[in-house]
Amino acid sequence: MQIDPSRTAYGVVFQTLSCCLAPRPVVLVSTMSRAGLPNLAPFSMVTLLSVAPPLVGISILPRHGGVKDTLRNIIDTAEFTVNTVPPRLAEEAVRASADFSPEVDEFAACGIRARPSERVRPACVSASPVALECRRVDVLPLPGSEASLVVGVVLLVHVDDALVRDGAVNVEEFCPLGHLQSGPSGYVFSTVGRILRMAPPPPPGGER
Ligand SMILES: Cc1cc2nc3c(=O)[nH]c(=O)nc-3n(C[C@H](O)[C@H](O)[C@H](O)COP(=O)(O)O)c2cc1C
Repeated sequence: MQIDPSRTAYGVVFQTLSCCLAPRPVVLVSTMSRAGLPNLAPFSMVTLLSVAPPLVGISILPRHGGVKDTLRNIIDTAEFTVNTVPPRLAEEAVRASADFSPEVDEFAACGIRARPSERVRPACVSASPVALECRRVDVLPLPGSEASLVVGVVLLVHVDDALVRDGAVNVEEFCPLGHLQSGPSGYVFSTVGRILRMAPPPPPGGER
């Protein structure tokens, strides 16, 4: 099968591309409106952009030609938290993607417990084993698109102590939800399966 995105219906392109680069981490992004109302929504077009400084990127698409609450709040108040989603929180995370009006607090509406952040006003998700407190450094319009790339600097990283072994995140214990596909019938997610460990490659021309 070949798909030319410029000649294909949006829904087909979306369903296909959503699984071309997968799994992507599913995260819950928590923000606060100018009036101080909490907001929470899942995102998966999310990645680490840089380490020094520690930058994360989130691509936020338009909704019915308008701006999603998360993007509006990040533009208005600059602060957000990025919370990883363990599989047991998957249903609540999907529920938080519904088209709630800006006055609705998705923490309360979706039964997701919040815990206070230390460096920013938006709360973290209590059940997330890893959470990042972030401040917006830029919101970049993506060329030819109505989507925006939010770039944030990580101010504080929270890792559940139960996940830490020898000062590092124990990946055998950390089981972040992965987004494999979106389609008309819903979402397909992955959990972490077999973990492969590999030595780094030898220097070019060197002996193994
Ligand atoms: C698993 C999952 C991943 C999602 N990823 C994105 C994404 O990367 N970008 C985006 O714009 N919307 C994404 N969405 C849709 C938003 O969660 C949805 O539009 C939500 O209503 C936005 O809420 P807000 O208006 O409170 O910001 C995703 C939804 C789900 C369930």
